[in-house]
Amino acid sequence: MTKIHIEPKFKLIGHRGVAGLRPENTLVSFSYAAELGVDWIEFDVQLSKDQHWVVMHDETIDRTTNGKGKVNDYTLAQLGNFEAGLWFEPPYPKQPIPSLESTLQLAQPLNLNCNIEIKGSTLDPELHARLMAEFLHEHKNILPANILISSFELPCIQILRKVMPTLPIAYLVDNFTTDTIALALEHKFASINCDVNTITTQDLSAAAKQNIPVMLFTVNNVDLAKYWFNEGVVAIFSDRPDLFIPKSR
Ligand code: G3P
Ligand code: MG
Repeated sequence: MTKIHIEPKFKLIGHRGVAGLRPENTLVSFSYAAELGVDWIEFDVQLSKDQHWVVMHDETIDRTTNGKGKVNDYTLAQLGNFEAGLWFEPPYPKQPIPSLESTLQLAQPLNLNCNIEIKGSTLDPELHARLMAEFLHEHKNILPANILISSFELPCIQILRKVMPTLPIAYLVDNFTTDTIALALEHKFASINCDVNTITTQDLSAAAKQNIPVMLFTVNNVDLAKYWFNEGVVAIFSDRPDLFIPKSR
């Protein structure tokens, strides 16, 4: 597979850190992204039982930690005691489930811009939007140069948009529907982030007509990335950003 050079600045986003090379959504995964020369990472956040933001993709901790059960049945302190890197091959011991705060503390000095994806908000979108807005206000000093908040869960980001009118928010979709573009325009979403397996060139032209950037997840194939960049996609999420960055960087 040939490598292509992708200009840094929002073209290449490390998915869950560097999920193909390090245990996803862990600090070691985020710092390895920086080591590779990636300047954007994406990770998923949910609320713990005591309403702290923690970094975890699944609703439960079963797949990626040595524990069992739902994320929101544990407190921040309890979640911090699980091992989140032992399941990986090779295993990475002593990787806790990170808090959002510890992730940003790591990311800022590494110049990693962050796409924070909100998950688990459907039962109480209001609460999640409020707690995200509060978190961002209270942690201004540890935010990276650029942040992008995103979610598949529309009610949460609709409320967040009302509370934070200028916050960059991306609308995540599994596929474009007849409403996707209108919703993005109505809520001034910064981009539509769509599954690479469903996107069509018609979707892209419709978004381009309205000047809405489109990003694609998850692209681990250089030729596929090339194809969609040529079609006008502004960024891709990849588990393997190393495939896109020349080793000399
Ligand atoms: O934000 C892009 C991508 O992370 C969305 O899918 O399931 O990996 O969170 P998922
Ligand atoms: Mg995600």
